[in-house]
Amino acid sequence: AGTGKFFVGGNWKCNGTKDSIKQLVSDLNSATLEPDVDVVVGPPFVYIDQVKNSLTNRIEIAAQNSWIGKGGAFTGEISAEQLKDIGCKWVILGHSERRHVIGEDDQFIGKKAAYALGQDLGVIACIGELLEEREAGKTFDVCFKQLKAYAGMLSSTFNLIDAVSSWDNIVIAYEPVWAIGTGKVATPEQAQEVHVAVRDWLAKNVSSEVASKTRIIYGGSVNAGNSADLAKKDDIDGFLVGGASLKGSEFATIINSVT
Ligand code: G3P
Repeated sequence: AGTGKFFVGGNWKCNGTKDSIKQLVSDLNSATLEPDVDVVVGPPFVYIDQVKNSLTNRIEIAAQNSWIGKGGAFTGEISAEQLKDIGCKWVILGHSERRHVIGEDDQFIGKKAAYALGQDLGVIACIGELLEEREAGKTFDVCFKQLKAYAGMLSSTFNLIDAVSSWDNIVIAYEPVWAIGTGKVATPEQAQEVHVAVRDWLAKNVSSEVASKTRIIYGGSVNAGNSADLAKKDDIDGFLVGGASLKGSEFATIINSVT
């Protein structure tokens, strides 16, 4: 941990029922959380209201996706305006499951990010390489290409000043695809190496100020047993947690692992 306030997000993905989520929120409400950590949970859309209305602590809500522009005749989509309206502060975009299972590409994701930022939502902007890309030595190339799409879309959407200030509302989540849901966590050194490269990329392509203040969080099989070692690395500024965020006490341990 090094840059800014530690940030821990729980991405619940397409999991849960009214009852299981009631239990999870009650576990989160009774957990003791480090005050100096930003905490966000991402329930499925249909449970956002339930979670928002039953959380009694300072945990904020992230949606797991948003539409590319203003709402209207887009069956099945949810707009950034609607997310704002029901009290979401954040949206997770560019997740590997949306890239590789649903087929969203860099440009589409970049546009969604720019639109959501324009509606004052914070964006958890995910990037990360597939196993074959890592094995082919292409990890940095893939991450830089994904970053470039976010940055490019911000500069073509906003004026220069707003494009730079929009980075205040972005958290970058590095999630190597081979580590997601596999139990194969990146080593602290592997994660740190990519986080440093991402920060260098930001310094060269956006600004040194953005590079030094943007939080870069790690996701991929983070659990209560590995989070403390990862959190020791200078450029790991938090986590995006999948499976382990479905257990309130384990998620709390991860949140508190920054100390
Ligand atoms: O967005 C978080 C995620 O993809 C990691 O999932 O289950 O490996 O922690 P998991």
